Amino acid sequence: MRIVLGCDHGGFDLKRTLHHYLEQKGHSVINVGCDTADAVDYPDFAEKVALAVSRGEAERGIMLCGSGVGASVAANKVPGARAGLCHDTFSAHQGVEDDDVNVLCLGARVIGPNLAIEIVETWLRARFTKAERHQRRLDKVLALEKKYKVAP
Ligand code: RB5
Repeated sequence: MRIVLGCDHGGFDLKRTLHHYLEQKGHSVINVGCDTADAVDYPDFAEKVALAVSRGEAERGIMLCGSGVGASVAANKVPGARAGLCHDTFSAHQGVEDDDVNVLCLGARVIGPNLAIEIVETWLRARFTKAERHQRRLDKVLALEKKYKVAP
């Protein structure tokens, strides 16, 4: 799968771990930074991840910050991005199956690398079910996005 990967300084170490892991598993990874542990602003990188997904340059995106909260708030501002902060495997697969989450956010100061890898694996395996009730709810989410869209 083609996956875009980004982080702020809080997620830098975990991004390196995940990058290596994903490539080992045969995925194609687009790294949008940051690439040092120097302090940066998470919205700059969440935007790059979310845009790559919404433009179809990547099928999925993973965005890491210290808590994962700022990453998800920022990524969800980009139309077409559906970011979910998942620190457990249930949310990771259900978020895709029911809500079609296309950007996974993780907090590198909250979970360790082994759990992060399990969550990523579970999330990548999951597919949106397209069940009528989930499609209806997703359509309502998309309608909200359209209703409140501000021209750039
Ligand atoms: C950066 O110190 C920290 O605020 C950021 O990584 C993230 O946790 C924001 O939600």
